Amino acid sequence: MKKKKDIIPPVVISFDYIRNSNCIDGMNTLPSNCIDLIIADPPYNLSKSRDWKWDNSASLAGMGGNWNITNENWDNMPLEDYFNFSLAWLSEAKRILKPTGSMWIFGTYHNIGIINFACQMLGIEIINEVIWYKKNAFPNLSGRRLTASHETILWTHSGGKKRNYFFDYDYSKNGDFPSDKLKIPGKQMRTVWDLSNNKQQEELKFGKHPTQKPIKILTRIIKLSSRPGDVILAPFAGAGSECVAAKIVGRHYIGFETDKEYCRISEERLAYTEKENEQINLFQIKQGGMSIDKTRD
Ligand SMILES: C[S@@+](CC[C@H](N)C(=O)[O-])C[C@H]1O[C@@H](n2cnc3c(N)ncnc32)[C@H](O)[C@@H]1O
Repeated sequence: MKKKKDIIPPVVISFDYIRNSNCIDGMNTLPSNCIDLIIADPPYNLSKSRDWKWDNSASLAGMGGNWNITNENWDNMPLEDYFNFSLAWLSEAKRILKPTGSMWIFGTYHNIGIINFACQMLGIEIINEVIWYKKNAFPNLSGRRLTASHETILWTHSGGKKRNYFFDYDYSKNGDFPSDKLKIPGKQMRTVWDLSNNKQQEELKFGKHPTQKPIKILTRIIKLSSRPGDVILAPFAGAGSECVAAKIVGRHYIGFETDKEYCRISEERLAYTEKENEQINLFQIKQGGMSIDKTRD
């Protein structure tokens, strides 16, 4: 039987919105222990010119590789600011995450060490480090380095000793992942995922984002670590991919995004997804319950 102190009363919050706001301010408005899953795709801090100016005294040779260098202001901070920014948003994320919840964080070698260190400082436990292998990665044009063809995703939880985070083990083992040549049907899912970075036409229908994530990797994450009806938070919503993916698989969402134009793209994508969901439901009813799974990767 659960002890009284282990029972956390449910917190009622509103959801299914994207707010044009800094995520730290946005998360600040939310009560503690209210979010089931966070999918964070923060700035990787790689929009640098050829030389990396870590501070006023030192510079490192370009770390550009094949990354889609966007030269966006939101993706260009001095190292110390980036570290403090990471600590600030991760602290808020930890506070609002339920003990049964977890958080996935995307990154590359440019930022993931900093995020990893910040998590450890805050007592956020790393459950797994997933390598997202992109076999269709853009070739290296300079011929001066290896072709960058993966991103890293940290799966974490808020650090409670009981490790009460939700994990759909059955889906991870027996789910359908036809395009992932590294996933053997019926065997445990490993930490290297083979998924192309290609997006469907409808993902780009309302405008592009320079670092947009494909829906198929997000629905995989959501199904692995949340239940239908759960609330998913995207602190860096971009073009709304995490929120759209949540809606496709019957979860609720909250997104924060500082750029108005990306909020506009997100809203249009979400309205389109709503219509699509309705059409799929109608079709399934007409076909006597036949189900359509748009999320198979
Ligand atoms: C890596 S992109 C996310 C892309 C998103 N995963 C998608 O697929 O559309 C990061 C986004 O965070 C936004 N951003 C940067 N700093 C932010 C902050 N402090 N709060 C909220 N959004 C922020 C940027 O405008 C950018 O759109």
